[in-house]
Amino acid sequence: MKDVIILAIESSCDETACAIVKNGKEILSSKVTTQIDVHTLYGGVVPEIASRIHVENISIIIKEALKEANMSVDDVDAIAFTQGPGLIGSLHIGVLAAKTLAWAYNKPLVPVHHLSGHIYANAFVGDLQFPLLALVVSGGHSELVYMRQDYDFQVIGSTLDDAIGEAYDKVGRVLNLPYPGGPKIDKLAKEGKPIYKLPKPKVDSPLDFSFSGLKSAIMQSISRLEKKGEQLNVADMCCSFQETALSALWDRVEYALNIYDVKQFVLAGGVAANSRLREIVQEKMEKDHPNISYIIPPLRCCTDNAAMIGASGYIAYQKGIKADYSVGAMASMDLDNHFD
Ligand code: KG4
Ligand code: ZN
Repeated sequence: MKDVIILAIESSCDETACAIVKNGKEILSSKVTTQIDVHTLYGGVVPEIASRIHVENISIIIKEALKEANMSVDDVDAIAFTQGPGLIGSLHIGVLAAKTLAWAYNKPLVPVHHLSGHIYANAFVGDLQFPLLALVVSGGHSELVYMRQDYDFQVIGSTLDDAIGEAYDKVGRVLNLPYPGGPKIDKLAKEGKPIYKLPKPKVDSPLDFSFSGLKSAIMQSISRLEKKGEQLNVADMCCSFQETALSALWDRVEYALNIYDVKQFVLAGGVAANSRLREIVQEKMEKDHPNISYIIPPLRCCTDNAAMIGASGYIAYQKGIKADYSVGAMASMDLDNHFD
């Protein structure tokens, strides 16, 4: 069978990325420029600045990805791009670049949902097996997704307030750690102990998440310590927060694994880079679910990148999902059956 080469573009938040992917499985090149250094100055992503930097970076990153794969746009079969969800101004730059390339080189345009990209990042490790349960945990999302087959997405649980990555970042801010808090908390937690008692988030529905209460609980804890004249141990607080948040997260996964009959569990999204979460998945799956296979995505495919959009775009392309030149970016976009 002829190889299918996808050029993929991702620009939904503060990473400008382009990748060339072969048959949805092999990364021929994957280039990501992050804007973290700039947004750190403001303690979070400033949408207006993000769009401007995407404009500066997009052509450079596409050229670099093609160069590394030793290809020209003529060699690719389709142009895949993140249509949504994300920051509208940021998405817009990627959509425009994809449309321009598709028009200039007469290539099909394949729209991709950002979260499906995160899920299909696992295809770089092994074949996805269905029915499948995916835990998608990122800066904007905490979702449990059930998939009966390729490209059949059913969101069975989601956050009622903050996404878990957002909670990491907000707690990071409370603890005076630079943006983004997630990787810093991950690192500091290794040096701490879970000595601070934080209430486990309570949610009535067993498949939904809630993380906003944890930030408030930490703020209350800090002010209690201050009143008593005691010093806060930041590493211990990072560890306490992480253990409480991840334990609440895993309770939901456990519930879903027990009621849905799945062949495979996959982890997805920026928070999948968390070392403790990776450890928990491995431990729990091997001990409690030896009959369900599991995949943890490669570290470089956890946080936003375009290779994952190429992996998902490959399946979309095979399914005949295409966009015309009137396609636009979508700031919010449901995952459930989004291209039916
Ligand atoms: O998927 P992603 O790159 O962007 C979105 O689609 O949101 O995820 C970014 C999120 C941020 O909230 C960041 O703090 C979090 O992923 N993150 C982590 C780690 N690395 C990134 N959270 C916890 N531990 C990490 N090691
Ligand atoms: Zn993402």
